[in-house]
Amino acid sequence: METRKVYLDHSATTPVAEEVLNAMIPYFTEGMGNPNSLHQWGRDARRAIDEARESVAGLVGAGPHEIVFTGSGSASDNLAIKGAVWASKRVGKHIITSAVEHHAIMDTFKWLGKKGYDVTFLPVDKYGMVHPESLKEAIRDDTILVSIMYANNEVGTINPIAELGTICRERKVLFHTDAVQAAGHMPIDVSHLPVDMLTISAHKMYGPKGIGALYIRKGIKLTPLVHGGGQEYGIRSGTENTPSIVGFGEAARLARRLHERGETDRISGLRDKLLDGIIERIPDSFVTGHRVERLPYHGSVCVRLIEGEGILLRMDYVGIGVSSGSACTSGSLEPSHVLLAMGLDHATAHGSVRLTLGKDTTEEDIDYVLEEFPRIVDTLRKMSPYKGG
Ligand SMILES: Cc1ncc(COP(=O)(O)O)c(C=O)c1O
Repeated sequence: METRKVYLDHSATTPVAEEVLNAMIPYFTEGMGNPNSLHQWGRDARRAIDEARESVAGLVGAGPHEIVFTGSGSASDNLAIKGAVWASKRVGKHIITSAVEHHAIMDTFKWLGKKGYDVTFLPVDKYGMVHPESLKEAIRDDTILVSIMYANNEVGTINPIAELGTICRERKVLFHTDAVQAAGHMPIDVSHLPVDMLTISAHKMYGPKGIGALYIRKGIKLTPLVHGGGQEYGIRSGTENTPSIVGFGEAARLARRLHERGETDRISGLRDKLLDGIIERIPDSFVTGHRVERLPYHGSVCVRLIEGEGILLRMDYVGIGVSSGSACTSGSLEPSHVLLAMGLDHATAHGSVRLTLGKDTTEEDIDYVLEEFPRIVDTLRKMSPYKGG
């Protein structure tokens, strides 16, 4: 009998949607021109990129000239932070981020810390949320940049971005937000949001991997990280990846269609059924992250006294793809920095499991997970010192 396959790791990456793939294919073949060439092949590719730029810009309420395509969400984060810090005319070396950022932000800030910048990592509450008050207290006269994620990849919590951005604006400090997990899954409108830069990545919204975008508010100057032919308004040189940019544009159109079709309500309904079902069926389990201020497709739980990795591997065996919060680096299992910052102890943080749904997730998929997950935990607990309680 063939095992059922249920992919619940959409926060890690999403499949490329059929319409996205179909839009991309011609740009590998007859539409292969270099968009910087003046002949018809070049002009066709340029037109396709322009259309994609309009579409991606429209997804977040930006103007097309405010969107720069990059090689990934990580590349956009690096460009935003290093580019802004190096271009800053303000005197000061103080930069602020939160304790729960993705490594693309976290490690960039740590690196800048080693280069002489003074870094503040803001604390979060038990849901993983950054509080405006703590930002207010942290900003100094020599602060030049703040970067706080729109929504967290591990626990799905959405930050009060409008309030955080307003504080930065009042203090005339640049504000960047990493919206990789949020863009395409919830409405974002930078024309009404006090955000100066915002990161997006196509592969989290049914687009291809290896293509990102950075929204840069008109008038903001960044120092380029990649010098060369001056593509992307001179901010990110390198011949444009036309097929992936076209795919990104199509993914942005798809995101709008899904939203209009009521996908946000459908998916958050299934997610709630999954989370409620897990808590009900698995003793000593609890939801991590905020239950309401949460990405619609995002579920995450902790199961006490069980290794998340153990659950992941057994889930994989029965055809279910999830992820756990700990990163296995060089043989040692480090618990997630996000869960530790939220106040969880090491042992509990080790029992974290992330289940993130997608547009193709069905009610039957959720029912299957609700059958298998408790069974797996039960088996693992029988082999562990867990005595219940
Ligand atoms: C919040 C967040 N930022 C940045 C990234 C990096 O994006 P990319 O994989 O496109 O480099 C990810 C990917 O998981 C993410 O979740």
